[in-house]
Amino acid sequence: MRGLSAANGAGFAVPGWDLCARNGVSRIGAKPARWVLTRPLARAKPPPVVDVKSEVETWVRAAAVSALGQAGDTDPMVRSADPKFGDFQANLAMRLGKQLGKKPREISEAIVQQLPSVGPAGALDEVSIAGPGFINLRLSKSFVEQRLNAMFGSDRLGVPTVEHSTNVVVDYSSPNLAKEMHIGHLRSTIIGDAIVRVLSFRGDTVTRHNHLGDWGTQFGMLLEHLIDIGWDSSSDHSIGDLNELYQLAKARFDTEPDFKERARRRVVSLQAGEEQSLALWRQLIDESVRHMNDVYAMMGVLLRDEDIVPESFYNPRLPVVVEDLRSAGVLFESQGAQVTFPEGFKNKEGDPLPLIVQKNDGGYGYATTDLAAARFRTADLGAKRIVYVVDSRQSEHFQMVFWTLRKAAWVPADATLEHVPFGMILGKDKKPFRTREGGTVRLVDVLGEAVTRARKVIDAKVPGFDEATAADVANAVGIGAVKYADLSNERIKDYTFDYDRMLALEGNTSPYLQNAYVRICSIFRKGEVARDALDVSTLQVNEPAERALAIALFGLPSVIESVSASLEPHRLCNYLYDLASLYHAFYERCPVLKAPEPLRSSRLALCDLVARTLRLGLELLGIRVVEQM
Ligand code: ARG
Repeated sequence: MRGLSAANGAGFAVPGWDLCARNGVSRIGAKPARWVLTRPLARAKPPPVVDVKSEVETWVRAAAVSALGQAGDTDPMVRSADPKFGDFQANLAMRLGKQLGKKPREISEAIVQQLPSVGPAGALDEVSIAGPGFINLRLSKSFVEQRLNAMFGSDRLGVPTVEHSTNVVVDYSSPNLAKEMHIGHLRSTIIGDAIVRVLSFRGDTVTRHNHLGDWGTQFGMLLEHLIDIGWDSSSDHSIGDLNELYQLAKARFDTEPDFKERARRRVVSLQAGEEQSLALWRQLIDESVRHMNDVYAMMGVLLRDEDIVPESFYNPRLPVVVEDLRSAGVLFESQGAQVTFPEGFKNKEGDPLPLIVQKNDGGYGYATTDLAAARFRTADLGAKRIVYVVDSRQSEHFQMVFWTLRKAAWVPADATLEHVPFGMILGKDKKPFRTREGGTVRLVDVLGEAVTRARKVIDAKVPGFDEATAADVANAVGIGAVKYADLSNERIKDYTFDYDRMLALEGNTSPYLQNAYVRICSIFRKGEVARDALDVSTLQVNEPAERALAIALFGLPSVIESVSASLEPHRLCNYLYDLASLYHAFYERCPVLKAPEPLRSSRLALCDLVARTLRLGLELLGIRVVEQM
């Protein structure tokens, strides 16, 4: 079995919390668990910011400018695949060669000659050229140690805060209400939450928007059906009833023409603010939001009631959207409807595809609301970057909305509109994930099942846990597994939902990373060493495994920058997985507690750095670490 129970026994599950976190496991948002202090804090002075990878990249580019007058477009440096060749590899010579019409190797040679004149003296030990023109750089031991010390002393692990913070709105989760949350809401919620965390950590000003679908045509049929069956608005209804209600209403809507017509009229009266409709509608919404919040709490996402800016919020702003588009000369009439014709979009017949702004019955639709929302976000909230985390099937919708917004000049030219599309979740049969009976998979069921499975394994593995701790650890592991399986997947691709795989302790999974963290905790417990009392000045890098770990740690700032730009959390997942694997290799080769001083302290500090990096990285993905599992 590839579950948690296939544990590799060494180094964890040491019962007893006494020397470990005093306030239990650490939680997202809460202060990290503290260790019992036995020696005075050595981490006192605020450390310099350290982004070693960018720093070295700057030298290479400076050398290129001095040798050739330019450095070309950015071509990010990578960690060398084989440490034999060096620590980093710079590949800019290929592209520069093309641009300058020269052989990449000549370019590399010219750059390498200039390298000694840039950067701090003694920082580079060795520079070589390989293959068609890759430049391999090996940092000096003293430079690596000095920078590693600085990273160790940095609360942000060397990750700088952006100089100019961007005002970002992230539109995510955004379910259509009056239906229970289901598997179709999982990806936007998880991915959006990770994006919010990364951008916030980077220093951007981030506003979360839950663009709830609380105003669509589905409410016409729901309300009409409720009225038909004489729904008692004073009694309590659970979302379970609502689900059933939705199905009944939908069935009638699809089969009874008269009902369909009444449902349509009901939407119009609701949107016009008719009292009876509004009162019933509010009840439906309240019940749905209560249910939604339960699911969010279970998932540990950041979304709160304050983040809800639902479709209905924009209702008063819709008529002016139509008027202003007309004044801007972007609006046309097509079959009685008011539309725009975004350039380059065609229907199956090859005719221009309209974006409907006002329907022929005077009603407004999904697109109109998005136009109003983007206006509100830029004009009223001052957003400079709007991020829409919505599945890839809505790509065309967003491109057409964006075109219209630009054409009407409703968003500032320096603001970006980004649709962040993602693929589908598949079942093991490679078809869209459904229940065994072919129904919609409820989110509470999926999350509950993951936690139950995690709990079984934990109970078997660590029988000493008290009930509260076992439940908490199972929650961190189960929910973490679901999130990580989603985030580690290349965003745009579909993926297969598989409990066994996501809960496996081996491979690129969240339990693997959480377990790496736990193993480091247990070293400190076993050695009775307080992490806060480690002496920074002792960090040394002698063994290749130590150096590999150091170089990997230096990659953290640039991976966070790359996730911020691409909005692809899997890059951070890959980074953490790589780091954890290198830690594993280090642990196999380099004794920690048995090493003589000062090596012992140095290695403990390195372990601590890895643990802090894993914890930060996982928290940015919305995943909790625990001190034992
Ligand atoms: N409620 C929509 C749906 O379920 C998603 C909304 C996404 N955000 C937006 N601004 N359109 O498909």
